[in-house]
Amino acid sequence: MDKRVTFAVVTLSDTGYKKEREDLSGRKIIEICEKRGFLLSCYEILPDDRDLLVQKLIELSNQKINLILTTGGTGFSERDNTPEATKEVIEREIPGIPEAMRNFSLQKTNRAMLTRGVCGIRKKSIILNLPGSVRAVEECLNFIIEPLEHGIDILMGWDKNCGRT
Ligand code: MTE
Repeated sequence: MDKRVTFAVVTLSDTGYKKEREDLSGRKIIEICEKRGFLLSCYEILPDDRDLLVQKLIELSNQKINLILTTGGTGFSERDNTPEATKEVIEREIPGIPEAMRNFSLQKTNRAMLTRGVCGIRKKSIILNLPGSVRAVEECLNFIIEPLEHGIDILMGWDKNCGRT
């Protein structure tokens, strides 16, 4: 059985979608995950549209992609609806990961309290919302990626010992 973690990146940005802005955050996620040995299955830039994101998250989880990472759309603007779309599709919430990201990020900037990102499981996929800035992506993802990978192992039944020695 192939135990390599597969991942998808979905960037939420009206300006990125219209190609008015380069998607540096999406590219940073790909760089960090590939460095970890994960295999990129899908990369998309979508506008900040709740229904489109819901559809995309369902499609990607139906494809059994292990990890679906979104970036952007977690703040307070009217078009920021990534957490709402994510909550609509997840079956089990994982509060600890966004809590850990905010906790860690607050040591760097008090604006970290402004991200409303969530994380959860749909079928055999973990969906995680990252904030939109490159710096935030880098800080948050690097901090949680090791335990996140362990969580994927458990979800997939790849780690029979659950890390216990
Ligand atoms: N988290 C970290 N680690 N570093 C940051 O610079 N920026 C914050 C927050 N989280 C930030 C961060 C800011 S300013 C905002 S508005 C929110 O993420 C939401 O960002 P988003 O709407 O682009 O998702």
